[in-house]
Amino acid sequence: MLYDFQSLPDRRRAYSIKWNIGEEELPMFIADMDFKSAPAVCRAIRSKAALEAYGYHFVPPVFFEALADWFARRHHAAVKPEEILYCEGVMPAIGSVLRHLTAPGDKVVALSPVYHHFYSAARDNGRELVLCPLLYDADSKDYRIDVQALQAVLSDPKVKVLLFCNPHNPTGRVWDRETLSHLGSLCAKNDVFVVSDEIHADLTDPGVGYTPFFATDLVCKNISIVATSPSKSFNLAGLHTASLLIANERLREKVRAGLHADMIDEPNAFSVEASLAAYTESDDWLDELRAVLAVNKAFACRRLTEHCPGLKVRYPQASYLLWLDCSALTENADDLADFLREATGLVLTKGSVFLGNGRSFLRMNVACPTPMLEDGISRFIHGWRAYAESL
Ligand SMILES: Cc1ncc(COP(=O)(O)O)c(C=O)c1O
Repeated sequence: MLYDFQSLPDRRRAYSIKWNIGEEELPMFIADMDFKSAPAVCRAIRSKAALEAYGYHFVPPVFFEALADWFARRHHAAVKPEEILYCEGVMPAIGSVLRHLTAPGDKVVALSPVYHHFYSAARDNGRELVLCPLLYDADSKDYRIDVQALQAVLSDPKVKVLLFCNPHNPTGRVWDRETLSHLGSLCAKNDVFVVSDEIHADLTDPGVGYTPFFATDLVCKNISIVATSPSKSFNLAGLHTASLLIANERLREKVRAGLHADMIDEPNAFSVEASLAAYTESDDWLDELRAVLAVNKAFACRRLTEHCPGLKVRYPQASYLLWLDCSALTENADDLADFLREATGLVLTKGSVFLGNGRSFLRMNVACPTPMLEDGISRFIHGWRAYAESL
């Protein structure tokens, strides 16, 4: 192992949302890793900080070229530098797209359960949210799209956009090309464009690829806005840096104007250097991270399944979030989450926030050094058993 995935940066007093908790508590909720970022990224930020002047910045052509190369090299997908727009984060960009490409009262579809800020992006921007629940198979612990229900939802002319997550948060599911293509053709038939949030895509397991939505086929390419960012893969969420890949020129120019009107198209002082270091100098680090995450996920799945009677865990092929099916113990996993926090100090994400069938699930972030992971798993096992006994 070349890189350090075992030191735990102490962020308790660093205004970290994740670590803004009690001294004895352990945070395994928000999607934010407890690993240091890649050495090249840290060097780039340190060297920029040394300038001691942090004025306004622009995004140079080399940023777009580096991201296009990244997609070619890592995901075998062709994107042209001129098809990329810079923005200050995936969610700010999604909000902007909804405000500028749809009208108040238009409908936005999401396949629940899914990343909860999709819901607030639609509602807080005055758009009507329509949920199309994914179908869950409790035996395989897997989800699939309810194509018939989706067809019905998309046929409503008020529906203008589908918010999609690939790979999927909270389940870590990687959608296959056939599914994406089918989804694209259904949306295209109904004049619905697709915003595909691919922020977790660089974190597939070693040997597991993913298909960017725009690279699925020409139909998908023409109707999609794909969001990407180095923030999950390189632990840079606090830099608020992301990009949109939009092949369709007409769509792209509308989005560009919207990002500009919302003033979220300008980088902060560290975005460009940090992203360039990630996209051009950190492949080895990322590959090692993916291997570490695979080990952590396998360890957590095995221990939890062995020691928590009834708990169902599906190994996620992407990212570092475990989606824990607690339905054998309770249909109200919010209560279990409160119990775990109270009894063991372990803080997890309540599955209910993701809607769909999330009410009987909890989400656990396992992107952390081994001692923290072992501590979190022990707390969960202890809490699970104590909760079962209390019923
Ligand atoms: C699917 C998904 N999209 C977007 C975000 C947030 O992105 P940003 O911080 O760039 O707004 C997250 C963070 O957890 C996420 O999981």
